[in-house]
Amino acid sequence: MKVTVVGAGAVGATCADNIARAALAEELVLLDIKEGLAEGKAQDMMQTAALLGFDTRITGTTNDYVRTSGSDVVVITSGLPRKPGMTREELIGTNAGIVKGVTENILKHSPDAILIIISNPMDTMTYLALTSTGLPRNRIIGMGGALDSARFKYQLSRQLGASPADLNAVVVGGHGDTTMIPLIRLATWNSVPVTRFLSEEQQKQIVNDTMVGGATLTKLIGTSAWYAPGAAGAALVKSIVRDEKKLFSCCVSLEGEYGQKDICLGVPVTIGRKGWEKILDFGLDSEEQALFNKSADAVRNMNDVLKTL
Ligand code: LAC
Repeated sequence: MKVTVVGAGAVGATCADNIARAALAEELVLLDIKEGLAEGKAQDMMQTAALLGFDTRITGTTNDYVRTSGSDVVVITSGLPRKPGMTREELIGTNAGIVKGVTENILKHSPDAILIIISNPMDTMTYLALTSTGLPRNRIIGMGGALDSARFKYQLSRQLGASPADLNAVVVGGHGDTTMIPLIRLATWNSVPVTRFLSEEQQKQIVNDTMVGGATLTKLIGTSAWYAPGAAGAALVKSIVRDEKKLFSCCVSLEGEYGQKDICLGVPVTIGRKGWEKILDFGLDSEEQALFNKSADAVRNMNDVLKTL
């Protein structure tokens, strides 16, 4: 397997590090536009190989897409991260041009690759990747829901005193502070609904803390997160290269599922060798569906901005 990670910033490098440590690829290429950055980080990571005991060959390149040729999976993290007080949506003007150029270059050399989109605003960047490339929809996966669901499990684990690994919980909708929908009604602790153990007030708190999970730590650090976004990207790569068919919430193109079309939005999907393989209908209740439709409206407004660029 050959995997490319585009963008050697904090998210891209962390994603690459996780991929190498888990030996998910024989060959891993890190590409960045900034002179020397990807080469330097690739060398640093390769110098951990003897210590950690992995055999992945990691190389870096300054924008030479020929080196990415024949990749099976490509993770796109390029673009600016948000700063404190910024929304993910404010990045659209800058990041749209970057993501469009990157996907074109990647597909020239890896026409069969599955693309994982991390760049923000993630729902719109996923939609842009889909519409500008015309690829079959199963090969374009936006990472947001996988990350937001992990943040949801973290918040639940704190309130419940539970292991995050014992929790099943999914965030659907957009990857924005006001557009994501943590489905607490359907969340379970080893198959028992978590709502059984949590007061209404605790549930509200968990949902709210999940929604602003990224913004909260962006304020603390001064820039956007990387450990969890990088790990979420690598978890998707793992499910693809090992054909695990694991269920994640991912941003995918909807053609009537969940009552929406001509949009990419977070829904539960299985991830395997062909990309996302199946959308699961979680049977939203009317309140959840109304939130989902509202989220779709907000993301659609964002997507409309693409026409003006
Ligand atoms: C976050 C960015 C990656 O939520 O969107 O941390």
